[in-house]
Amino acid sequence: MNWALANSNLALVKYWGKTDEVAKHPAGPSLSVTLDGLSTVAGVEWVDGLADDEIGGLPEAPARKVRSFLEALRLRLATTARARVSLASNFPVAAGLASSASTFAALAKSAIVAAGRDVSDSELAELARLGSGSACRSIFGGFVEWRPDAGTSVVAPIAPKEHWPLAILVAVTSERAKAVGSSEGMRRTVATSPFYRAWIESGPADFQTARRAIEARDLNALGAVAERNCMRMHAAALAADPPLLYWEPATLAVMRRVWDLRASGTEAYFSIDAGPQVKVLCEPRVAEGVQAALGAVPGVLRVLVSRPGDGARTIDTPPAWAAPGDRPRLRQAVAS
Ligand code: PMV
Repeated sequence: MNWALANSNLALVKYWGKTDEVAKHPAGPSLSVTLDGLSTVAGVEWVDGLADDEIGGLPEAPARKVRSFLEALRLRLATTARARVSLASNFPVAAGLASSASTFAALAKSAIVAAGRDVSDSELAELARLGSGSACRSIFGGFVEWRPDAGTSVVAPIAPKEHWPLAILVAVTSERAKAVGSSEGMRRTVATSPFYRAWIESGPADFQTARRAIEARDLNALGAVAERNCMRMHAAALAADPPLLYWEPATLAVMRRVWDLRASGTEAYFSIDAGPQVKVLCEPRVAEGVQAALGAVPGVLRVLVSRPGDGARTIDTPPAWAAPGDRPRLRQAVAS
């Protein structure tokens, strides 16, 4: 097996809507921070003569997504070999923690290395995107942009993790798989939400504001734009038909706790992807207090602490939590 590890990422300006369903080009620009320690490990081996791809113990639905990704990779690599794949994540999967991002970034990296190919990170990002759009951002570490470009899209790092050692907390409110995955959620929003056009029109300004705030390390400006961009994405999704509501009661309680923290002088800002978990940005020196405040909100199961992390990389041996043969762990690794 060739092993690779990739981290999840948090979109500070979000991707929600495609212009091209197959190539997965985004309708608007997004900007993320790669999350240290929220990781997926993928092992891949291409085997000539194998009857079918073997995907380590995954349930049918996520395994299907991995299968079509492998199909797309075979076309790109001009190979007919089938793959033996092993996957494991160390955080709740398919529940709005961007498990698909770390899964397909790790998978793309290990699959390419296993095929003996040497490709640039940009090419790797392009491949990872075929599995899940946001996965292209997890190829890179630190702060990363992904934007439409002349009918296609480009992904590029904008600042390394050392540029701004922010604290990013994740208040986990549910570990159940979400009812509507992000691909279906996006399709439904594009097709039925009367607010979709307004969402897309407001994206570029948020993107520029966030970019400038990162350059200036201005938490107040970044937090404000991240929060309103998140609310606008969810507003567009809520207005879809049938409506998309990714929040749990505890999600809302955490959002209010973050606002209370700010009102009492602690700079903290939230963002929520297509799921019930709440990610909170703050300076590292207040992270412990913010973690305790979020952990005390009824319905919060636990609070993970992260910071800007590295991009996808190969590893010699998987960490203990991803050791092959550990079936329950392998089953955890699903793509939303
Ligand atoms: O990459 P996907 O198809 O799982 O979509 C990700 C969508 C959001 O997480 C809600 C936003 C984003 O930019 O990551």
